Amino acid sequence: MRGIVLSGGRGTRLYPATKAVSKQLIPLYDKPMVYYPLSTLMQMGIREILVVTTPEDEERYRQLLGDGGQWGIHISYCRQPRPEGIAQALVLGRDFIKDRSVALILGDNFIHGDGLFQSLGRAGGLTTGAINFAYRVSDPQRYGIVEFDAEGRPLRVVEKPTKPRSNWAVIGLYVYDQRASDFAAELKPSARGELEITDLNQRYLDLGELRIEKLGTGNAWLDTGTHDSWLEACHYVQTIFHRQGQMIGCPEEVAYRSNF
Ligand code: DAU
Repeated sequence: MRGIVLSGGRGTRLYPATKAVSKQLIPLYDKPMVYYPLSTLMQMGIREILVVTTPEDEERYRQLLGDGGQWGIHISYCRQPRPEGIAQALVLGRDFIKDRSVALILGDNFIHGDGLFQSLGRAGGLTTGAINFAYRVSDPQRYGIVEFDAEGRPLRVVEKPTKPRSNWAVIGLYVYDQRASDFAAELKPSARGELEITDLNQRYLDLGELRIEKLGTGNAWLDTGTHDSWLEACHYVQTIFHRQGQMIGCPEEVAYRSNF
């Protein structure tokens, strides 16, 4: 499986902090934000990773992450000229993905928890269909949401519904089989002019090939899209570090434990 970290976008919700700096390069407590999703992909056993950035920021990511050799992985880079949708990363990354499965993670997403290692490891073995991870939230209007039927089967995925019918948000980690680039290229831009990742997930769902993995209460999924959620994520990392002496989102540690 190959991995893509999507680290473009304008980060306008964090202005002016992100006006001159890419959002995913600002620190989350003691490390740049992008270290966390990168470490998640590495925990899935992925060693070939493409980082998608804005044209202006590519050089800074190269300075920070290099070719990945220091962590026993290989990192390459690709530019997204304009933020035209999360699913566009799969179109831009087509040559990189080739005929493999792919895990796409948003550069501002943060997941942590006991047991996560196993479910990420299982996802890393996906060969057909797609997997979305869902997390129960109190503010579902802010996210892509999964609706379930009475038997708990996924019915529909909806992007930022005004009247959400479920509290299960789709987190920013998506795992797909080798058809993802083709399917993404067939998407039509939404009303806001983006290739929506939710439309791609719905396509897999319509085919009966989307699996939803619910993350239980022992896990944390924090998105860092607002000043408050960013600060909460910083405190979370700090608290675990002070209390347990354990780092979160540390590529050196994941590389060491994974024998990379
Ligand atoms: O965080 C999970 C949510 O992420 C999902 O529940 C939603 O279904 C999904 O649409 C997305 O919602 P957001 O409102 O958080 O998406 P946003 O436009 O803020 O983009 C998320 C990250 O991806 C952000 O760090 C910037 C980056 N991005 C986004 C777009 C649209 C890019 O690099 N390029 C893009 O074209």
